[in-house]
Amino acid sequence: MNNIDKYAVLGNPIAHSKSPQIHAAFAKQTNQNMSYEAILAPLDGLEATVRDLIAGGYRGANVTVPFKFEAFALCDELTERAKTAGAVNTLTFTGQKIYGDNTDGVGLINDIHSNLGYALEGAQILLLGAGGAAQGVAESLIKAGVANMTIWNRTQEKAQALAQKMANKNVTTSIAGSMDVVINATSTGLSGEKIAIDDSVFTHKTLAYDMMYGRETPFMAQARAAGAMVSDGLGMLVEQAAEAFFIWRGVRPETKSVIEMLRSH
Ligand code: ATR
Repeated sequence: MNNIDKYAVLGNPIAHSKSPQIHAAFAKQTNQNMSYEAILAPLDGLEATVRDLIAGGYRGANVTVPFKFEAFALCDELTERAKTAGAVNTLTFTGQKIYGDNTDGVGLINDIHSNLGYALEGAQILLLGAGGAAQGVAESLIKAGVANMTIWNRTQEKAQALAQKMANKNVTTSIAGSMDVVINATSTGLSGEKIAIDDSVFTHKTLAYDMMYGRETPFMAQARAAGAMVSDGLGMLVEQAAEAFFIWRGVRPETKSVIEMLRSH
């Protein structure tokens, strides 16, 4: 067991992370000799924790809330998608060097396309939120070929700032009519607050996607009552993990069975 390749996920809190289970399933499926554990990093101690991992021979780590921005700043090299997201969720260690990537956007796109069977090409999209989670996926949604994207945020100036950063003529900040896909990237799933959007954004063909998982959020309840198709973000969690696994191991794990396994628990 000495030559096992070690990985971890760093977060605070971290106890309820499903990532160790997901990566264990991927490793088993693809016969990879690796370990993956959840590590609680002190709120002021991400860098020290990362340096300890490197010193301990770890090969890489995922980074979750609240460290994705700090992880970005720690990296020696960044992929384009990490640069546009302004945040990092996947670190790879080579010698003393830290490479940063962000697999959240591709995870969301793959879940919507491959698992849920919704086309993003030509779609009218509404992205709710303009914080870190929204910023992490906005560029990937545009790149997926949406017809246009409305960014709505409770604090409108932040939506406008994000839209300006995207510098794309198909990005707007005021909601007009119904949407093909509505993505909740606000933190309201945690607080249980209702988002102040009108039911008229939903039709019976709309996919209402909450990036949160593990509970029925007020957003999901509203969309369901308005007749939309509803999904939580469990598939995105597994897909972003699959992309990180591919970066590290060069093998693409199968995800559907892993999503089903998590849902059945
Ligand atoms: P995260 O990293 O999860 O995106 P964040 O950067 O703090 O966290 O952003 C939280 C997002 O949820 C913001 O878009 C926030 O809106 P504001 O910019 O107006 O604060 C949004 N949010 C939080 N509570 C909300 C509520 N009750 N209704 C609507 N949006 C809310």
